[in-house]
Amino acid sequence: MTRTGVKYLISGQGQISNMSSSESKLQAVVIGANGLVGRCVINLLTQKGIECIGTCNKRPRNKLFKLDITDPEEINRFFSKFSPEVVFHCANLAGGVNFCQSNPKIATDFHLNATKRIGNACNANNATMFFISTDYVFDGTKAPYKENDPTNPLNLYGKLKLEAEEWIKGNISKFVIVRTTNVYGWDPETVTPNYVMGLYRTLKEGKPFNAPSFLRGNPTYANDLAEAIVELYVKNAHGLFHVVGKSFVDRLEWANAACEIFELNKSLLNETKVPSPDMVPRPLESNLTSDKFMRAYKSTLHDLASGLKLMKSDMKTLG
Ligand SMILES: NC(=O)c1ccc[n+]([C@@H]2O[C@H](COP(=O)([O-])OP(=O)(O)OC[C@H]3O[C@@H](n4cnc5c(N)ncnc54)[C@H](OP(=O)(O)O)[C@@H]3O)[C@@H](O)[C@H]2O)c1
Repeated sequence: MTRTGVKYLISGQGQISNMSSSESKLQAVVIGANGLVGRCVINLLTQKGIECIGTCNKRPRNKLFKLDITDPEEINRFFSKFSPEVVFHCANLAGGVNFCQSNPKIATDFHLNATKRIGNACNANNATMFFISTDYVFDGTKAPYKENDPTNPLNLYGKLKLEAEEWIKGNISKFVIVRTTNVYGWDPETVTPNYVMGLYRTLKEGKPFNAPSFLRGNPTYANDLAEAIVELYVKNAHGLFHVVGKSFVDRLEWANAACEIFELNKSLLNETKVPSPDMVPRPLESNLTSDKFMRAYKSTLHDLASGLKLMKSDMKTLG
């Protein structure tokens, strides 16, 4: 069933304490609206005229509300002020898999405890919770993976994401979990560059770039993911979905394709053929199938070449 009666458009700004109670009812909250995924989601919601506000943490941005999801008081204050119909939890812990592995307490507080707090706030508001999960719930030995295939995370990030998924399934009345992977897009202000941004910056500086040919996955264009997430919301979806780009390539192929489209110097690419002994374990062949999503929904999930071309046009428009 498609949502009807969508309320249109205000964008929040300023401090929570400055808001009047008449401003507190709204349709959507995007947590982590500064990030690669969150920014695409909030831009799309805004384009569609869906009433929404976004949050940031360390990088204040005009119109975003400060919210640290690891601070229970901030979560309480935020959700006692706003009662959204849907919460898109798009926050991520900087440093990714490596940081999680060496900082288990911080990682658990962020990926599990904070997710539970957000989930409890969703239940209290009768809101739908969107949670972005990962292919790292799998070990990569039996790809391609469907939603109900057995999981076996190899590192702490994957384990915490899986634990958070299971908690959500057991405790949240209205939820959508979207597993994705290898998200890329034009994000010039990022402090956590995605693979293509990292490659672009490094090669533009004339420095060599290591591209692992032993690591294969599905590059996923961030705007495609955001389109899919918003479609799942608008069409009132429930449950677990894999949403990834159409291509299954190794990182060297990905880097070569990006060099062609962005006209970068391929000779600076160094193929890495085997994992270094200190690499945090991860699935080396993590092919997710988006068939369940594609059977029921219409958003396009581009292949690598098309996604990179779209990213290049974003670069021209966004600067
Ligand atoms: N990127 C991928 O390839 C990928 C793959 C699979 C799953 N995912 C999942 O997708 C989601 C979004 O990832 P992303 O790549 O878009 O992340 P990202 O670009 O690194 O953005 C992270 C966002 O989280 C915010 N944030 C960080 N710490 C916070 C805190 N303590 N409280 C509140 N907000 C905080 C940041 O805000 P400030 O900048 O203001 O500090 C930023 O807006 C995550 O759940 C991630 O696990 C991503």
